[in-house]
Amino acid sequence: MASGLNERVNQQLFLKKVPFGIAGSDDFEIKQSPAPECGEGEVLVESHYFGVDAALRLIVRDSDEFLFRVKPGDIVRGSAAGRVIESNNPQFTVGDHVLASGGVQNFIVSNGEGLEKVDVTQAPLGEWLGGFGVSGLTAYFAVTEECKPQPGQTILINGAAGAVGSIAGQLCKLAGATVIGLTGSAEKCRWLVEELGYDIAINYKDVDWYEQLVDAAPERLDVIFDNVGGSILDESLRLIGMHGVVLLCGSTSQYSEEKMSGPSNYIWLGTMRARMQGFVIFDYAERYAEARAKMARWIRDGRLKIPSYEVTGDVDAFPKAFQQLYQGKNLGKMLLKLPAAT
Ligand SMILES: NC(=O)c1ccc[n+]([C@@H]2O[C@H](COP(=O)([O-])OP(=O)(O)OC[C@H]3O[C@@H](n4cnc5c(N)ncnc54)[C@H](OP(=O)(O)O)[C@@H]3O)[C@@H](O)[C@H]2O)c1
Repeated sequence: MASGLNERVNQQLFLKKVPFGIAGSDDFEIKQSPAPECGEGEVLVESHYFGVDAALRLIVRDSDEFLFRVKPGDIVRGSAAGRVIESNNPQFTVGDHVLASGGVQNFIVSNGEGLEKVDVTQAPLGEWLGGFGVSGLTAYFAVTEECKPQPGQTILINGAAGAVGSIAGQLCKLAGATVIGLTGSAEKCRWLVEELGYDIAINYKDVDWYEQLVDAAPERLDVIFDNVGGSILDESLRLIGMHGVVLLCGSTSQYSEEKMSGPSNYIWLGTMRARMQGFVIFDYAERYAEARAKMARWIRDGRLKIPSYEVTGDVDAFPKAFQQLYQGKNLGKMLLKLPAAT
């Protein structure tokens, strides 16, 4: 609540211990304190939405190998979309909508560094964390700069109904390719085809999913857009086509594994003169505005949908939302909508 100073209670989410398996409520701890003061040159932001990101499970591992790390005792890293409620910084005005990366908490104080103003006339605030934010930008640059789908090509996208996959599939369709999606339920398969225009969607929990994929791609796969890794990637590699591209966007199935495992069917890359390509969105940071301008046009023209799946609750609802993400409850980007947003 953005009311009197002393009434502002800041719920903060901390990591309690390194999780085993999918992270659950016991792995996190909520602490409450008064909202921070807005000091000289600073801005106070009230969080309205948090993006619930699969990669959080990767960065809470007991390992320093990855880009970021959250250790037990640290505030949980997360991207918020919110509103400036106090400002002693001439670059920000009360009422500005911003993206902030100050951890999962109701109030974030900042000297302005790492805050990004957003234009809610271009897209609603929550979407700036999803399809119009890092997830959509990831899909945009991975598809347009790395996969480069062509008319007549066949593209396989796993994690197809998630935040990245739901946008990537639509972009491949816009490029004129045939798009096959893999996801974890019949309902999500229907949604991919009926709502997002995927040509074929296959439930990877079906025992014969690989046979279904063979039937769906008689001329093999020109691109595998990989969000999940593991056995789904491994089996799919047997179908990579001549000079194909395997775009390594994410490895969701491996993030909670004590020992991650890689593909054994890599031999098909050699036989088919194909390549595996790593990808990190931050390499394209200078070009986000360009991508958003193009995506905004497609949205206006009705050619691109930005799906998001909102769960409502306060900061203490975040661990449950995170579990639901790994249970595959989301269609598009999972967002936690806080009371301040209503
Ligand atoms: N490279 C980059 O710069 C970059 C940027 C953003 C995201 N990423 C990565 O891209 C991937 C997708 O991210 P996202 O935000 O779009 O996540 P997401 O797909 O919205 O959410 C995770 C989904 O993964 C599926 N899943 C969960 N456990 C699985 C398992 N064991 N095997 C197969 N599927 C499983 C679930 O859907 P089902 O119902 O289909 O199982 C779930 O809905 C993540 O790995 C993320 O870390 C990379």
